[in-house]
Amino acid sequence: MTYNIAILPGDGIGPEVTAQAKKALEAIADIYNHTFKYKEALMGAIAIDKTGNPLPEETLDACEAADAILFGAIGDPKYDNDPSAKVRPEQGLLRLRKSLGLFCNIRPVKAYEELIGKSPLKRHIISGTDISIYRELTGGIYFGEKHLSEDGQVASDGCKYSVEEIERMAHLAFKEAQKRRKKLTLVDKANVLETSRLWRKTVTAMGPQYPDVELDFLFVDNAAMQLILNPKQFDVILTENLFGDIISDEASVIGGSIGLLASASIGKDNALFEPIHGSFPQGAGKDIANPLASILSAAMLLNHLGLTEEAEAIERAVEKSLELGITTQDINPDNPFSTSKVGDFIADYILNQEDSNINFTNVHMGQSTII
Ligand code: IPM
Ligand code: MN
Repeated sequence: MTYNIAILPGDGIGPEVTAQAKKALEAIADIYNHTFKYKEALMGAIAIDKTGNPLPEETLDACEAADAILFGAIGDPKYDNDPSAKVRPEQGLLRLRKSLGLFCNIRPVKAYEELIGKSPLKRHIISGTDISIYRELTGGIYFGEKHLSEDGQVASDGCKYSVEEIERMAHLAFKEAQKRRKKLTLVDKANVLETSRLWRKTVTAMGPQYPDVELDFLFVDNAAMQLILNPKQFDVILTENLFGDIISDEASVIGGSIGLLASASIGKDNALFEPIHGSFPQGAGKDIANPLASILSAAMLLNHLGLTEEAEAIERAVEKSLELGITTQDINPDNPFSTSKVGDFIADYILNQEDSNINFTNVHMGQSTII
């Protein structure tokens, strides 16, 4: 089959990590006889530099026309340190999410056995953790009315949700829970926020449609604590935009590195796949960033296209790289591999995994080829 994939490398380490994901996709294309047609487009600080617009029309068109979108990272310190900047790279991503209606952001968090020792959290607490965070992505305070008074002394950001926005999101989260361990936790701040009370009321009313799913509720402050005290209690977490942003970064600590967390942003007609990490400007151009989140995002992309076997082949390769320690400095500070070497290993493993004669450790340690 032929699939059209829009690639938005973005800023900082984005181009380096998406290049590795592309290598993995090419290996998959080779083995499973698919054709991936890529169309690269600009978004973020690089798009501002080249066109003045963080989301050029051409990029939006390429994304609309694609079967799926692979995105790298966004952000540049020259904007982070300038609160008065009129255009910001992040606006590109936010506009893209909104324009394509990518309302459902899925962020899986898993404690990889091989990495448990790398997490600052204790083994017995995180071992076995497997959470799927469902973050609403096109509403709430991110997209509410913004205001700055003329004298610059007062600012506000409105937070708004409709029943319709909550329901379409909650249906997907309930369905995911049905496929997993059948537990759904709504994270909100219903003791304070009107929008949270609407979430709670709406999701509670939907509960009877999913009688096999156990539904519970947590205030976000408590959830933040529970996530690191006892993450195994969670199966699917459903939450609004800002809370989901915050708790997913927190949850990444469980996995041992934020460099491993992939995400999918799904709408009615389009879907975008991206690491949850940022653009890591200090690491840009140095070939040191962890490409696994981008590679795992490519696996989520394949799953979305219905190519589950292909997605599993990528996931197996990632697990193998962790097992063998063919990983970047964030995970393997003593004997780090470069971004591109990790990408080469993943592609090579996908291409050759059936061939048990190849000793991958040796090949990628540059020691020998065939044993
Ligand atoms: C994320 C990022 C974005 C967000 C930024 C870059 C706008 O932090 O995808 O989590 O806040 O949603
Ligand atoms: Mn974030």
